[in-house]
Amino acid sequence: MKLGVNIDHVATLRQARLPADVRGTPPGYPDPVWAAGVCQRAGAYAVVMHLREDRRHIQDQDLFRVKEILSIKLNLEMSIAPSVRRTAARLSPGQITLVPERRAERTTESGLDLFKKSKAIRACVDDFSRRGVLVSLFIDADSRQIQEAKRIGAHAIELHTGTYANQPTQAAAKREWLRLKEAARLARSFGLVAHAGHGLDYENVKAVAKIRELEELNIGYSIVTRALVVGLDEAVREMKGLIA
Ligand code: PXP
Repeated sequence: MKLGVNIDHVATLRQARLPADVRGTPPGYPDPVWAAGVCQRAGAYAVVMHLREDRRHIQDQDLFRVKEILSIKLNLEMSIAPSVRRTAARLSPGQITLVPERRAERTTESGLDLFKKSKAIRACVDDFSRRGVLVSLFIDADSRQIQEAKRIGAHAIELHTGTYANQPTQAAAKREWLRLKEAARLARSFGLVAHAGHGLDYENVKAVAKIRELEELNIGYSIVTRALVVGLDEAVREMKGLIA
């Protein structure tokens, strides 16, 4: 199974000092370009970055600078907001992952509902597919959403693992795990590539990594926080070891 490392929170840390630091040049560190390089050397399959409409962490410039140094895949998470789409079109990353976005949320809270704004989502899928960019749709483990993803013409889906990760008991987590497995199996039977992510950490990832139908896991927060203790290189290698 392949690992995509989401480096948004490296930029979150940098942005934390920007508005307050009025006395001198704001710190340009930690730099997402540095983080992307470390992930690449540590064996990540992809680097994932989310360009939010409010630009709260990753900035447009970060994407272009990271793309320049990467030989592995750059997976750009984004909404269908026009300003973000324009940047994505100029960037032309290896893959985009369409996610829902609400300004008030701390992080992506659920999968896309493909039956809402379906025309706009389809137009975005068509546009980027024509440009030769792989398009993945971040959705919940729901058979109707998976069927719709296929109908819309996506290359891949990413199953939202947040619900699984947040279950309070092992029995409840097992039920969610079974839903994920069934959803991944269904996606594969439609010819879709199946990815998963959100809320995965060094414990709960082990069971998800056993779902054979999944090709790629996208993980950010737990890796970036683990990096505070062991360094980013080691944090990526440990996660890669767990899911390999
Ligand atoms: N996949 C998607 C689509 C996401 O939006 C996020 C969060 O940005 C992740 C994976 C990574 O989630 P986490 O930071 O909880 O590992």
